[in-house]
Amino acid sequence: MVVRPITLSDSREVASLSNQLGYPSSASVIEKRLGKMTLGAEFGAFVAEATDGAIAGWIHVFGVQFLQEDAFAEISGLVVSANSQGQGVGKALLEAAEKWARENGYTGIYVRSNTKRSQAPPFYERRGYNTVKTQYVFHKGF
Ligand SMILES: CC(C)(COP(=O)(O)OP(=O)(O)OC[C@H]1O[C@@H](n2cnc3c(N)ncnc32)[C@H](O)[C@@H]1OP(=O)(O)O)[C@@H](O)C(=O)NCCC(=O)NCCS
Repeated sequence: MVVRPITLSDSREVASLSNQLGYPSSASVIEKRLGKMTLGAEFGAFVAEATDGAIAGWIHVFGVQFLQEDAFAEISGLVVSANSQGQGVGKALLEAAEKWARENGYTGIYVRSNTKRSQAPPFYERRGYNTVKTQYVFHKGF
């Protein structure tokens, strides 16, 4: 298994894994979104490619500058295919995102996780993450 930056040709499998994460998507939608992001100091996205070429998981990380605090990195999504879980894929993807964050000068990394995701807290805690707050998330559609 290798972890490498995402490419447009990963879109179909990335979309399929997005469905597993609870964000239904299609290859064309993923391609369009990737086209809006210049992967570099603001956006990082990596896939874990199995030896047979299948995509076993992906992670997306971004950097953000708020007025009230120093720039930080945040993981917006991480998913490992159901049949590849428990084999170190999530750990390898998280390490790639952390490396990206360090290399781009961010001093820390956040991840927000829906309370319905029971696998996430033990996974992140084991990797040195601490719960720093609970929050309401508000949304208004347009
Ligand atoms: C959470 C998730 C990404 C973990 O990926 P994974 O590939 O199964 O995890 P790994 O095999 O890399 O495990 C890494 C470490 O975390 C531990 N771990 C992983 N899942 C765990 C769980 N549910 N409970 C306890 N420990 C867990 C492993 O034991 C391992 O520890 P070690 O390195 O000390 O041996 C994966 O289960 C997943 O995609 N879940 C569904 C989507 C999701 O919850 N995403 C997170 C959104 S915020």
